[in-house]
Amino acid sequence: MRAVGFTRSLPVEDQRCLMDYETPVPVPEPRELLIRVEAVSVNPVDTMRRRRAATEEPLERPLILGFDAAGTVTEAGPEAHLFGPGDRVWYAGSIDRSGSNAEYQVVDERIVGRRPKNLEPAEAAALPLTAITAWEALFERLGISQSPGTSHTLLIIGGAGGVGSIAIQLAKRLAGMKVIATASRPASRDWCLEMGADRVANHHSLVDSVRETGFEHVDYILNCADTAEHWDAMAELIAPEGKIACIVGSERPVDLRKLMLKSVTFAWEHMSTRPIFETDTMQRQHRILEQLADRVESGDLRSTLTETLQGLSAATLRQAHSRLESRRMIGKLSIVF
Ligand SMILES: NC(=O)c1ccc[n+]([C@@H]2O[C@H](COP(=O)([O-])OP(=O)(O)OC[C@H]3O[C@@H](n4cnc5c(N)ncnc54)[C@H](OP(=O)(O)O)[C@@H]3O)[C@@H](O)[C@H]2O)c1
Repeated sequence: MRAVGFTRSLPVEDQRCLMDYETPVPVPEPRELLIRVEAVSVNPVDTMRRRRAATEEPLERPLILGFDAAGTVTEAGPEAHLFGPGDRVWYAGSIDRSGSNAEYQVVDERIVGRRPKNLEPAEAAALPLTAITAWEALFERLGISQSPGTSHTLLIIGGAGGVGSIAIQLAKRLAGMKVIATASRPASRDWCLEMGADRVANHHSLVDSVRETGFEHVDYILNCADTAEHWDAMAELIAPEGKIACIVGSERPVDLRKLMLKSVTFAWEHMSTRPIFETDTMQRQHRILEQLADRVESGDLRSTLTETLQGLSAATLRQAHSRLESRRMIGKLSIVF
């Protein structure tokens, strides 16, 4: 099968940073599905791994990235019972396994869901990784209830990015919260409003800008940008007994003591925790994807796709990585086969 991988960590400007190659079609383990990939999306984790996985020595075999896909099941392992050949699915997969930038991929069925009937493959591929992350952060780590009508406030830092775009929709449409999203440019600001944000603040002057929207404190914060960069502002803006979830690891330590007087709860969210550690809760990601599909079909949620490239190859993937490395993405970029 055709695949795109890399053996050396090279900058995106270097044409050799990703390569087209041929590799055998993988064979599914007992609970795995063999899936023919129809469209993939790209995420910051792809570019991070490409830049960091092989800085010292070249890898012995090319590593295939890609942790967002829409495809069709062609074969199911002997113990798989959730899906069978012909089922149209979407999934993020797991970052410790070979990714979706290939004609075929094997994925554990417990982290796969049926994909919405009303989305094109590119629109569907745009959602799984970011939507699972946002769902787990909001409804599980922060414990926000999915009962519309709450007057609770949520600040989403990095509102126009992949995670922020779907997090705004989940918080508004499923939980009925008041959402303040951050954006620093007119285009990203407009996009946050289009996703459903009630107010938009600027993350370059976070505390003042949030206060200018009329909120002194917020009940919840989901930070989709650097944790340390926004730590002091989050400590100031969070309400007493509020909750903060972060999804970006920190190069610098942060001072947890700043949250103590307000009895603030802090949580990390990592969408690969469940598949990497095969936790008892792993199959919840299947359930989350199924619920998301229902909500997309009912019109409550929409795809966050903003850009599509045609034909998966090292060249188109390099273009996609370059867009992501700008850190100015609005919504998501997908590549169709
Ligand atoms: N833990 C997990 O499981 C998990 C899952 C998914 C993603 N992540 C991580 O979460 C981060 C966001 O992912 P993503 O897919 O949403 O990225 P993305 O789509 O590339 O985010 C782009 C957005 O980030 C905003 N932004 C840039 N610099 C910012 C800053 N200093 N403060 C606040 N916002 C800033 C930009 O807004 P403006 O242009 O308006 O400035 C832009 O719209 C990445 O670091 C990614 O690796 C973690």
